[in-house]
Amino acid sequence: MRIRPARRLRGRVRVPGDKSVSHRAAILAALARGASRVENFSTAADCASTLACLEGLGVGVRREGGGAVVISGAGRGPGRWAFSEPPRALDCGNSGTTMRLLAGVLAAQPFSSVLAGDESLSRRPMRRVIEPLERMGARVSSVEGRAPLRIEGRRPLRAIEFEPAVASAQVISCVLLAGLGAEGRTSVREPRAGGGAPAARDHTERMLRWLGAPVSVAARDGAARTVSIEGPATLAARDLWVPGDFSSAAFFIAAAALLPGSELEIEGVGLNPTRTALLGVLSRLGAGVTAENGAERCNEPVGNLFVKSPSVLAHEAGGALRLGGAEVARLIDELPLLAVVGALAEGGLEIRDAAELRVKESDRISAVVRNLRAMGAEVEERDDGLSVGGGARLKGARLSSFGDHRIAMAFAVAALAAEGETTIDGARECVSVSFPEFFSLLESVTER
Ligand code: S3P
Repeated sequence: MRIRPARRLRGRVRVPGDKSVSHRAAILAALARGASRVENFSTAADCASTLACLEGLGVGVRREGGGAVVISGAGRGPGRWAFSEPPRALDCGNSGTTMRLLAGVLAAQPFSSVLAGDESLSRRPMRRVIEPLERMGARVSSVEGRAPLRIEGRRPLRAIEFEPAVASAQVISCVLLAGLGAEGRTSVREPRAGGGAPAARDHTERMLRWLGAPVSVAARDGAARTVSIEGPATLAARDLWVPGDFSSAAFFIAAAALLPGSELEIEGVGLNPTRTALLGVLSRLGAGVTAENGAERCNEPVGNLFVKSPSVLAHEAGGALRLGGAEVARLIDELPLLAVVGALAEGGLEIRDAAELRVKESDRISAVVRNLRAMGAEVEERDDGLSVGGGARLKGARLSSFGDHRIAMAFAVAALAAEGETTIDGARECVSVSFPEFFSLLESVTER
Protein backbone atom coordinates (compact mmCIF):
# COMPACT_ATOMS: atom_id res chain seq x y z
CA MET A 1 0.00 0.00 0.00
CA ARG A 2 1.37 3.44 -1.00
CA ILE A 3 0.40 6.50 1.01
CA ARG A 4 1.14 10.11 0.11
CA PRO A 5 1.35 12.87 2.73
CA ALA A 6 -1.82 14.83 3.48
CA ARG A 7 -2.49 18.48 4.25
CA ARG A 8 -5.38 17.89 6.65
CA LEU A 9 -8.54 15.83 7.33
CA ARG A 10 -11.96 17.40 6.85
CA GLY A 11 -15.47 15.98 7.02
CA ARG A 12 -17.61 13.45 8.76
CA VAL A 13 -17.17 9.68 9.11
CA ARG A 14 -18.97 6.76 10.67
CA VAL A 15 -16.76 3.81 11.58
CA PRO A 16 -18.06 0.21 11.46
CA GLY A 17 -19.43 -1.61 14.50
CA ASP A 18 -17.09 -2.31 17.41
CA LYS A 19 -15.06 -5.51 17.10
CA SER A 20 -14.94 -6.35 20.83
CA VAL A 21 -18.68 -5.74 21.26
CA SER A 22 -19.55 -7.72 18.09
CA HIS A 23 -17.64 -10.83 19.27
CA ARG A 24 -19.50 -10.67 22.56
CA ALA A 25 -22.86 -10.02 20.89
CA ALA A 26 -22.44 -13.10 18.69
CA ILE A 27 -21.24 -15.37 21.51
CA LEU A 28 -23.74 -14.21 24.13
CA ALA A 29 -26.62 -14.37 21.64
CA ALA A 30 -25.52 -17.94 20.82
CA LEU A 31 -25.62 -18.79 24.54
CA ALA A 32 -29.08 -17.25 25.01
CA ARG A 33 -32.48 -18.87 24.79
CA GLY A 34 -34.27 -17.65 21.64
CA ALA A 35 -33.22 -15.57 18.63
CA SER A 36 -31.40 -12.22 18.86
CA ARG A 37 -30.92 -9.71 16.09
CA VAL A 38 -27.59 -7.87 16.25
CA GLU A 39 -27.45 -4.59 14.33
CA ASN A 40 -24.34 -2.78 13.09
CA PHE A 41 -22.29 -5.96 13.49
CA SER A 42 -18.57 -5.42 12.81
CA THR A 43 -17.27 -5.94 9.28
CA ALA A 44 -13.95 -7.22 10.72
CA ALA A 45 -12.60 -10.59 9.54
CA ASP A 46 -12.05 -11.42 13.24
CA CYS A 47 -15.78 -11.22 13.93
CA ALA A 48 -16.53 -13.31 10.84
CA SER A 49 -14.25 -15.94 12.43
CA THR A 50 -16.42 -15.89 15.56
CA LEU A 51 -19.60 -16.35 13.51
CA ALA A 52 -18.02 -19.23 11.56
CA CYS A 53 -16.94 -20.97 14.80
CA LEU A 54 -20.47 -20.62 16.18
CA GLU A 55 -21.84 -22.18 12.97
CA GLY A 56 -19.32 -24.99 13.50
CA LEU A 57 -21.07 -25.59 16.84
CA GLY A 58 -24.44 -25.87 15.09
CA VAL A 59 -25.67 -22.34 15.88
CA GLY A 60 -28.00 -20.79 13.31
CA VAL A 61 -26.48 -17.55 11.97
CA ARG A 62 -28.35 -15.50 9.37
CA ARG A 63 -26.50 -12.53 7.84
CA GLU A 64 -29.01 -9.92 6.73
CA GLY A 65 -28.29 -6.84 4.62
CA GLY A 66 -27.20 -3.60 6.28
CA GLY A 67 -24.92 -5.19 8.85
CA ALA A 68 -27.54 -7.12 10.81
CA VAL A 69 -27.02 -10.70 11.96
CA VAL A 70 -29.71 -12.93 13.45
CA ILE A 71 -28.48 -15.62 15.81
CA SER A 72 -30.56 -18.54 17.01
CA GLY A 73 -29.42 -19.12 20.56
CA ALA A 74 -28.54 -22.60 21.79
CA GLY A 75 -29.62 -21.90 25.40
CA ARG A 76 -31.96 -24.56 26.79
CA GLY A 77 -31.97 -23.90 30.54
CA PRO A 78 -29.61 -22.89 33.37
CA GLY A 79 -26.09 -24.01 32.33
CA ARG A 80 -27.48 -26.10 29.45
CA TRP A 81 -26.99 -25.56 25.75
CA ALA A 82 -27.78 -27.44 22.56
CA PHE A 83 -24.43 -26.92 20.82
CA SER A 84 -23.30 -29.84 18.71
CA GLU A 85 -19.87 -31.43 18.98
CA PRO A 86 -17.85 -29.91 16.12
CA PRO A 87 -16.62 -32.55 13.64
CA ARG A 88 -13.43 -30.56 12.93
CA ALA A 89 -11.28 -27.86 14.52
CA LEU A 90 -12.93 -24.47 14.92
CA ASP A 91 -10.84 -21.91 13.02
CA CYS A 92 -10.37 -18.67 14.98
CA GLY A 93 -8.23 -17.16 12.20
CA ASN A 94 -6.20 -14.23 13.58
CA SER A 95 -8.58 -13.54 16.46
CA GLY A 96 -7.39 -13.86 20.07
CA THR A 97 -10.79 -12.72 21.35
CA THR A 98 -12.55 -15.53 19.44
CA MET A 99 -10.21 -18.16 20.84
CA ARG A 100 -10.11 -17.00 24.45
CA LEU A 101 -13.83 -16.28 24.81
CA LEU A 102 -14.92 -19.48 23.06
CA ALA A 103 -12.55 -21.49 25.26
CA GLY A 104 -14.72 -20.38 28.23
CA VAL A 105 -17.91 -21.44 26.45
CA LEU A 106 -16.51 -24.82 25.33
CA ALA A 107 -15.19 -25.66 28.79
CA ALA A 108 -18.81 -25.94 29.94
CA GLN A 109 -19.98 -28.28 27.14
CA PRO A 110 -20.27 -32.07 27.49
CA PHE A 111 -17.98 -32.78 24.52
CA SER A 112 -14.49 -32.25 23.16
CA SER A 113 -13.58 -29.55 20.70
CA VAL A 114 -10.48 -28.03 19.15
CA LEU A 115 -9.77 -24.31 18.71
CA ALA A 116 -7.13 -23.50 16.08
CA GLY A 117 -5.82 -20.29 14.57
CA ASP A 118 -3.44 -18.82 12.02
CA GLU A 119 0.32 -18.64 12.47
CA SER A 120 0.19 -15.42 14.51
CA LEU A 121 -2.57 -16.67 16.84
CA SER A 122 -0.72 -19.98 17.28
CA ARG A 123 2.20 -18.06 18.79
CA ARG A 124 0.13 -16.21 21.40
CA PRO A 125 -0.03 -17.20 25.09
CA MET A 126 -3.04 -19.29 26.10
CA ARG A 127 -2.02 -20.49 29.59
CA ARG A 128 -3.80 -17.47 30.96
CA VAL A 129 -7.11 -19.12 30.00
CA ILE A 130 -6.04 -22.76 30.29
CA GLU A 131 -5.17 -22.42 33.98
CA PRO A 132 -8.54 -21.07 35.24
CA LEU A 133 -10.54 -23.40 32.99
CA GLU A 134 -8.65 -26.43 34.34
CA ARG A 135 -9.28 -25.23 37.89
CA MET A 136 -12.98 -25.17 36.96
CA GLY A 137 -12.76 -28.83 35.90
CA ALA A 138 -12.27 -28.73 32.13
CA ARG A 139 -9.27 -30.47 30.53
CA VAL A 140 -7.32 -28.41 28.06
CA SER A 141 -4.35 -29.62 26.07
CA SER A 142 -2.17 -27.26 24.08
CA VAL A 143 1.20 -27.03 22.38
CA GLU A 144 3.25 -25.69 25.27
CA GLY A 145 0.57 -23.21 26.25
CA ARG A 146 -0.29 -22.27 22.68
CA ALA A 147 -2.99 -23.15 20.13
CA PRO A 148 -4.35 -25.45 18.92
CA LEU A 149 -6.30 -26.03 22.13
CA ARG A 150 -8.22 -29.27 22.68
CA ILE A 151 -10.91 -28.69 25.26
CA GLU A 152 -12.69 -31.52 27.06
CA GLY A 153 -15.63 -29.78 28.62
CA ARG A 154 -17.38 -30.66 31.84
CA ARG A 155 -20.96 -30.06 32.91
CA PRO A 156 -21.31 -28.56 35.41
CA LEU A 157 -18.02 -26.76 35.99
CA ARG A 158 -16.77 -25.81 39.46
CA ALA A 159 -17.14 -22.15 40.43
CA ILE A 160 -13.82 -20.49 41.29
CA GLU A 161 -12.40 -17.26 42.59
CA PHE A 162 -9.78 -16.11 40.14
CA GLU A 163 -7.24 -13.33 39.98
CA PRO A 164 -5.58 -13.06 36.59
CA ALA A 165 -1.97 -11.91 36.44
CA VAL A 166 -2.66 -9.58 33.50
CA ALA A 167 -5.43 -7.00 33.13
CA SER A 168 -6.88 -8.80 30.13
CA ALA A 169 -10.55 -8.43 29.21
CA GLN A 170 -10.29 -11.62 27.18
CA VAL A 171 -9.22 -13.62 30.23
CA ILE A 172 -11.85 -12.08 32.50
CA SER A 173 -14.52 -12.69 29.86
CA CYS A 174 -13.42 -16.29 29.33
CA VAL A 175 -13.84 -17.09 33.03
CA LEU A 176 -17.18 -15.27 33.31
CA LEU A 177 -18.56 -17.18 30.30
CA ALA A 178 -17.40 -20.48 31.81
CA GLY A 179 -19.06 -19.30 35.03
CA LEU A 180 -22.46 -19.43 33.26
CA GLY A 181 -22.04 -23.21 33.26
CA ALA A 182 -20.58 -23.55 36.78
CA GLU A 183 -22.29 -24.53 40.00
CA GLY A 184 -22.17 -21.49 42.30
CA ARG A 185 -20.53 -18.08 42.25
CA THR A 186 -17.53 -17.52 39.94
CA SER A 187 -15.59 -14.36 40.75
CA VAL A 188 -12.83 -12.60 38.88
CA ARG A 189 -10.82 -10.00 40.69
CA GLU A 190 -9.52 -7.55 38.17
CA PRO A 191 -6.22 -5.67 38.35
CA ARG A 192 -7.27 -2.09 38.74
CA ALA A 193 -6.50 1.20 37.00
CA GLY A 194 -6.17 4.52 38.80
CA GLY A 195 -9.19 6.46 40.00
CA GLY A 196 -11.35 3.42 40.75
CA ALA A 197 -12.11 2.83 37.06
CA PRO A 198 -11.88 -0.68 35.66
CA ALA A 199 -8.57 -1.43 33.97
CA ALA A 200 -9.75 -3.74 31.20
CA ARG A 201 -12.70 -3.17 28.88
CA ASP A 202 -15.96 -4.19 30.56
CA HIS A 203 -18.21 -4.96 27.56
CA THR A 204 -18.84 -8.54 28.69
CA GLU A 205 -20.22 -7.52 32.09
CA ARG A 206 -22.42 -4.86 30.51
CA MET A 207 -23.82 -7.23 27.88
CA LEU A 208 -24.35 -10.12 30.30
CA ARG A 209 -26.49 -7.74 32.34
CA TRP A 210 -28.39 -6.65 29.21
CA LEU A 211 -29.28 -10.30 28.61
CA GLY A 212 -30.46 -10.78 32.17
CA ALA A 213 -27.51 -12.71 33.64
CA PRO A 214 -26.90 -12.60 37.40
CA VAL A 215 -23.69 -10.53 37.27
CA SER A 216 -22.51 -8.31 40.08
CA VAL A 217 -19.61 -5.92 40.37
CA ALA A 218 -18.03 -5.01 43.67
CA ALA A 219 -15.51 -2.18 43.74
CA ARG A 220 -14.48 -0.92 47.11
CA ASP A 221 -12.26 2.14 47.32
CA GLY A 222 -8.65 1.15 47.32
CA ALA A 223 -9.51 -2.42 46.34
CA ALA A 224 -9.56 -4.19 43.01
CA ARG A 225 -12.83 -4.55 41.13
CA THR A 226 -14.41 -8.00 41.41
CA VAL A 227 -16.94 -9.27 38.86
CA SER A 228 -19.05 -12.27 39.84
CA ILE A 229 -21.58 -14.45 38.11
CA GLU A 230 -24.01 -16.92 39.71
CA GLY A 231 -24.16 -20.17 37.81
CA PRO A 232 -25.66 -22.13 36.33
CA ALA A 233 -27.37 -19.29 34.50
CA THR A 234 -29.65 -18.68 31.55
CA LEU A 235 -29.38 -15.74 29.17
CA ALA A 236 -32.54 -14.37 27.57
CA ALA A 237 -32.33 -13.49 23.86
CA ARG A 238 -32.59 -9.76 23.26
CA ASP A 239 -31.84 -7.52 20.31
CA LEU A 240 -28.51 -5.73 20.35
CA TRP A 241 -27.02 -2.72 18.62
CA VAL A 242 -23.25 -2.37 18.28
CA PRO A 243 -21.70 1.11 18.61
CA GLY A 244 -18.99 2.33 16.21
CA ASP A 245 -15.53 1.01 17.08
CA PHE A 246 -13.56 3.53 19.13
CA SER A 247 -10.29 1.71 18.35
CA SER A 248 -10.99 2.16 14.61
CA ALA A 249 -12.02 5.78 15.14
CA ALA A 250 -8.72 6.27 17.01
CA PHE A 251 -6.73 6.37 13.76
CA PHE A 252 -8.94 9.16 12.41
CA ILE A 253 -8.88 11.04 15.72
CA ALA A 254 -5.08 10.93 15.88
CA ALA A 255 -4.61 11.85 12.20
CA ALA A 256 -6.93 14.85 12.63
CA ALA A 257 -5.09 15.89 15.80
CA LEU A 258 -1.73 15.66 14.01
CA LEU A 259 -2.51 17.53 10.79
CA PRO A 260 -2.97 21.28 11.38
CA GLY A 261 -6.20 22.72 9.99
CA SER A 262 -8.11 19.44 10.41
CA GLU A 263 -11.73 19.31 11.53
CA LEU A 264 -13.42 15.95 11.73
CA GLU A 265 -16.68 14.60 13.09
CA ILE A 266 -17.07 10.92 13.96
CA GLU A 267 -20.64 9.77 14.41
CA GLY A 268 -22.17 7.02 16.50
CA VAL A 269 -18.98 5.85 18.15
CA GLY A 270 -18.76 3.82 21.38
CA LEU A 271 -17.60 5.96 24.30
CA ASN A 272 -17.23 3.31 26.98
CA PRO A 273 -14.72 4.86 29.43
CA THR A 274 -12.67 1.64 29.47
CA ARG A 275 -11.92 2.33 25.78
CA THR A 276 -11.52 6.10 25.45
CA ALA A 277 -8.33 6.81 27.42
CA LEU A 278 -6.74 8.01 24.16
CA LEU A 279 -8.86 11.17 24.39
CA GLY A 280 -7.32 12.10 27.74
CA VAL A 281 -3.82 11.54 26.37
CA LEU A 282 -4.49 13.69 23.30
CA SER A 283 -5.91 16.45 25.44
CA ARG A 284 -2.70 16.39 27.53
CA LEU A 285 -0.98 17.11 24.21
CA GLY A 286 -3.29 20.05 23.51
CA ALA A 287 -5.68 18.45 20.98
CA GLY A 288 -9.32 19.46 21.25
CA VAL A 289 -11.67 16.49 21.13
CA THR A 290 -15.24 16.96 22.32
CA ALA A 291 -18.01 14.42 22.69
CA GLU A 292 -21.68 15.20 22.03
CA ASN A 293 -25.09 13.52 21.88
CA GLY A 294 -24.08 11.07 24.55
CA ALA A 295 -26.63 8.29 25.10
CA GLU A 296 -26.70 4.71 26.34
CA ARG A 297 -27.71 1.96 23.95
CA CYS A 298 -27.77 -1.65 25.11
CA ASN A 299 -25.83 -0.61 28.23
CA GLU A 300 -23.01 0.99 26.20
CA PRO A 301 -22.33 4.75 26.04
CA VAL A 302 -22.29 6.16 22.50
CA GLY A 303 -21.99 9.63 20.96
CA ASN A 304 -20.36 11.82 18.33
CA LEU A 305 -16.80 13.11 18.51
CA PHE A 306 -15.46 16.38 17.11
CA VAL A 307 -11.72 16.69 16.59
CA LYS A 308 -9.94 19.95 15.88
CA SER A 309 -6.18 20.01 15.47
CA PRO A 310 -4.08 22.37 17.58
CA SER A 311 -1.40 24.38 15.75
CA VAL A 312 1.17 22.17 17.43
CA LEU A 313 0.91 19.04 19.59
CA ALA A 314 2.98 19.45 22.73
CA HIS A 315 2.90 17.98 26.22
CA GLU A 316 1.22 20.63 28.38
CA ALA A 317 3.55 19.97 31.32
CA GLY A 318 6.65 20.11 29.09
CA GLY A 319 9.12 17.26 28.51
CA ALA A 320 8.14 13.79 27.40
CA LEU A 321 4.65 12.44 28.00
CA ARG A 322 4.90 9.28 30.11
CA LEU A 323 2.39 6.44 29.84
CA GLY A 324 2.65 3.55 32.25
CA GLY A 325 1.04 1.69 35.13
CA ALA A 326 -2.60 0.77 35.03
CA GLU A 327 -3.39 3.34 32.32
CA VAL A 328 -1.67 1.08 29.82
CA ALA A 329 -4.45 -1.56 29.91
CA ARG A 330 -7.02 1.03 28.88
CA LEU A 331 -4.81 2.25 26.02
CA ILE A 332 -3.57 -1.16 24.94
CA ASP A 333 -4.82 -1.16 21.33
CA GLU A 334 -3.92 2.51 20.84
CA LEU A 335 -0.27 2.33 21.96
CA PRO A 336 1.30 1.79 18.51
CA LEU A 337 -0.68 4.80 17.27
CA LEU A 338 0.36 6.83 20.32
CA ALA A 339 4.01 6.02 19.62
CA VAL A 340 3.53 7.62 16.18
CA VAL A 341 1.82 10.64 17.77
CA GLY A 342 4.64 10.85 20.32
CA ALA A 343 7.29 10.96 17.59
CA LEU A 344 5.60 13.99 16.05
CA ALA A 345 4.57 15.84 19.23
CA GLU A 346 6.92 18.26 20.97
CA GLY A 347 8.61 16.59 23.93
CA GLY A 348 8.23 13.00 22.75
CA LEU A 349 6.69 10.05 24.54
CA GLU A 350 7.69 7.22 26.84
CA ILE A 351 5.65 4.01 27.16
CA ARG A 352 6.40 1.60 30.03
CA ASP A 353 4.65 -1.40 31.69
CA ALA A 354 3.41 -2.50 28.28
CA ALA A 355 5.15 -5.88 27.83
CA GLU A 356 1.74 -7.25 26.73
CA LEU A 357 2.35 -5.50 23.41
CA ARG A 358 4.95 -8.16 22.62
CA VAL A 359 2.27 -10.88 22.54
CA LYS A 360 -0.37 -9.18 20.39
CA GLU A 361 -0.96 -10.00 16.70
CA SER A 362 2.74 -9.14 16.27
CA ASP A 363 5.47 -8.04 18.67
CA ARG A 364 4.15 -4.50 18.57
CA ILE A 365 7.08 -2.96 20.45
CA SER A 366 9.63 -4.26 17.99
CA ALA A 367 7.38 -3.48 14.98
CA VAL A 368 6.85 0.14 16.07
CA VAL A 369 10.54 0.65 16.82
CA ARG A 370 11.61 -0.68 13.42
CA ASN A 371 9.09 1.35 11.44
CA LEU A 372 9.68 4.59 13.37
CA ARG A 373 13.44 4.22 12.88
CA ALA A 374 12.92 3.64 9.16
CA MET A 375 11.05 6.98 9.06
CA GLY A 376 13.95 8.74 10.78
CA ALA A 377 12.68 8.99 14.38
CA GLU A 378 14.95 8.52 17.41
CA VAL A 379 13.58 5.55 19.32
CA GLU A 380 14.83 3.49 22.21
CA GLU A 381 13.42 0.00 22.66
CA ARG A 382 12.78 -1.39 26.15
CA ASP A 383 11.54 -4.78 27.32
CA ASP A 384 8.22 -3.27 28.36
CA GLY A 385 7.88 -0.29 26.04
CA LEU A 386 9.83 2.37 24.22
CA SER A 387 10.74 6.02 24.27
CA VAL A 388 10.66 8.24 21.27
CA GLY A 389 12.13 11.73 20.99
CA GLY A 390 9.54 14.26 19.91
CA GLY A 391 9.22 16.80 17.14
CA ALA A 392 10.49 14.38 14.49
CA ARG A 393 10.10 15.24 10.82
CA LEU A 394 9.14 11.78 9.67
CA LYS A 395 10.34 10.81 6.21
CA GLY A 396 8.36 8.60 3.86
CA ALA A 397 9.90 5.12 3.84
CA ARG A 398 9.33 1.49 2.97
CA LEU A 399 7.73 -0.13 6.02
CA SER A 400 6.34 -3.50 7.00
CA SER A 401 2.88 -4.11 8.45
CA PHE A 402 4.34 -7.19 10.19
CA GLY A 403 1.02 -8.79 9.23
CA ASP A 404 -0.63 -6.75 12.00
CA HIS A 405 -3.67 -4.58 11.28
CA ARG A 406 -2.98 -2.01 14.00
CA ILE A 407 0.65 -1.57 12.91
CA ALA A 408 -0.52 -1.03 9.31
CA MET A 409 -3.09 1.60 10.34
CA ALA A 410 -0.82 3.40 12.83
CA PHE A 411 1.83 3.79 10.14
CA ALA A 412 -0.72 4.88 7.55
CA VAL A 413 -1.35 7.80 9.94
CA ALA A 414 2.42 8.39 10.23
CA ALA A 415 2.62 8.39 6.42
CA LEU A 416 0.00 11.16 6.16
CA ALA A 417 2.16 13.37 8.40
CA ALA A 418 5.50 12.45 6.77
CA GLU A 419 7.51 14.06 3.98
CA GLY A 420 7.44 11.98 0.81
CA GLU A 421 5.64 8.77 -0.06
CA THR A 422 5.46 5.73 2.22
CA THR A 423 4.92 2.11 1.26
CA ILE A 424 3.56 -0.32 3.85
CA ASP A 425 4.00 -3.93 2.76
CA GLY A 426 1.02 -6.18 3.41
CA ALA A 427 -1.15 -3.33 4.76
CA ARG A 428 -4.15 -3.75 2.47
CA GLU A 429 -4.48 -7.43 3.33
CA CYS A 430 -4.14 -7.15 7.09
CA VAL A 431 -6.40 -4.15 7.84
CA SER A 432 -9.38 -6.40 7.01
CA VAL A 433 -8.76 -8.15 10.34
CA SER A 434 -10.45 -5.25 12.13
CA PHE A 435 -11.33 -2.50 9.63
CA PRO A 436 -11.65 -3.47 5.93
CA GLU A 437 -12.96 0.01 4.98
CA PHE A 438 -9.98 1.81 6.57
CA PHE A 439 -8.12 3.05 3.49
CA SER A 440 -11.18 4.12 1.49
CA LEU A 441 -12.72 5.90 4.50
CA LEU A 442 -9.43 7.65 5.24
CA GLU A 443 -9.14 8.78 1.62
CA SER A 444 -12.69 10.20 1.74
CA VAL A 445 -11.72 12.79 4.40
CA THR A 446 -8.11 13.46 3.34
CA GLU A 447 -7.20 16.75 1.70
CA ARG A 448 -3.87 17.03 -0.08
C1 S3P B 1 -9.92 -7.41 23.59
C2 S3P B 1 -9.08 -7.27 24.66
C3 S3P B 1 -7.70 -6.80 24.54
C4 S3P B 1 -7.45 -6.12 23.21
C5 S3P B 1 -8.02 -6.89 22.06
C6 S3P B 1 -9.51 -7.08 22.22
C7 S3P B 1 -11.28 -7.90 23.84
O1 S3P B 1 -6.83 -7.91 24.65
O2 S3P B 1 -6.07 -5.92 23.00
O3 S3P B 1 -7.79 -6.18 20.85
O4 S3P B 1 -12.14 -7.82 22.94
O5 S3P B 1 -11.55 -8.40 24.94
P1 S3P B 1 -6.35 -8.47 26.09
O6 S3P B 1 -7.55 -9.00 26.79
O7 S3P B 1 -5.35 -9.55 25.76
O8 S3P B 1 -5.73 -7.29 26.77
